[in-house]
Amino acid sequence: MANINTLVQARYGSATTLSLAAGGVEAANPTLATLLQHKSTRNFSAEHLEPGTLEIIVAAGQSAATSSNLQTWSVIAVEDPVRKDKAATLCGNQDFIRQSPLFLVFCADLNRLTNLSEKQQSAGEGLEFTEMFLMASIDASLAAQNASVAAESLGLGTCYVGAARNHSRELAELLQLPQRVIALFGLAVGKPDDTVAASAAVKPRLGQDEVLHRETWSVDSEAQSRHVTKYDATLANFDAQQQRTGALAWTHRSARRVASASSLSGRHILRQVLEERGFNLR
Ligand SMILES: Cc1cc2nc3c(=O)[nH]c(=O)nc-3n(C[C@H](O)[C@H](O)[C@H](O)COP(=O)(O)O)c2cc1C
Repeated sequence: MANINTLVQARYGSATTLSLAAGGVEAANPTLATLLQHKSTRNFSAEHLEPGTLEIIVAAGQSAATSSNLQTWSVIAVEDPVRKDKAATLCGNQDFIRQSPLFLVFCADLNRLTNLSEKQQSAGEGLEFTEMFLMASIDASLAAQNASVAAESLGLGTCYVGAARNHSRELAELLQLPQRVIALFGLAVGKPDDTVAASAAVKPRLGQDEVLHRETWSVDSEAQSRHVTKYDATLANFDAQQQRTGALAWTHRSARRVASASSLSGRHILRQVLEERGFNLR
């Protein structure tokens, strides 16, 4: 099994060393190894998943913590090639969704609580607040991440699909979602096609000096500039190793991604769609 220190270095793309032994962390830890080796898979082999794979992945998802045990999420498993093709078209026309044998669509679900409130003649007024939509989104994300880690622990690859929000209305129609249910993101799952080099390496992240604050916020704008400039260099090095030429620096790419309403690929109307779908967001 891979040495945890080696995996940490790959995660930061530098000679970062953590004092693992002092924290009682064994150099070989299968859970940490799965987490640290995560990389999105966008090339899937044509192989189908073994029977029972979907159900164990969902069980792992349901094992995540959930606010007040309300379990305000649901997931749609799309395996039918025709429906998956339509979903792929709506989700940024990303071909890896078509290639993957399983496309999971994670939804914020306040429909279940609405129905059970009605049955108990309860007004369910709390369901009309932004808080409950946020809670459902958090719960769905925790479940999805557990599902993704479970899939990776089984040797499968995954890729999240935020483009599930590009055409929210149309995707809701395709999946026949009821009121107060909205697709937050997808997760393509399948056996990685390891012959494709692009999925070969883990992508480095920002250094901990940028994201980890101890006790109180501790990064001023000067330090932040230093950190992100360093990260630009780390990612440029990663892109070069992946033989990806012409990629913009991370800082430029990131600023461009949030530059205008049109950079949101259709998602700027989400507040309106949420209202149409019965999420009142008071
Ligand atoms: C919520 C979410 C939505 C994402 N949506 C997409 C997507 O639509 N298409 C895609 O190719 N990757 C998507 N990704 C994958 C990210 O691009 C990827 O996680 C990031 O570049 C880091 O790379 P890594 O996952 O290989 O470490 C998404 C990731 C998350 C968490």
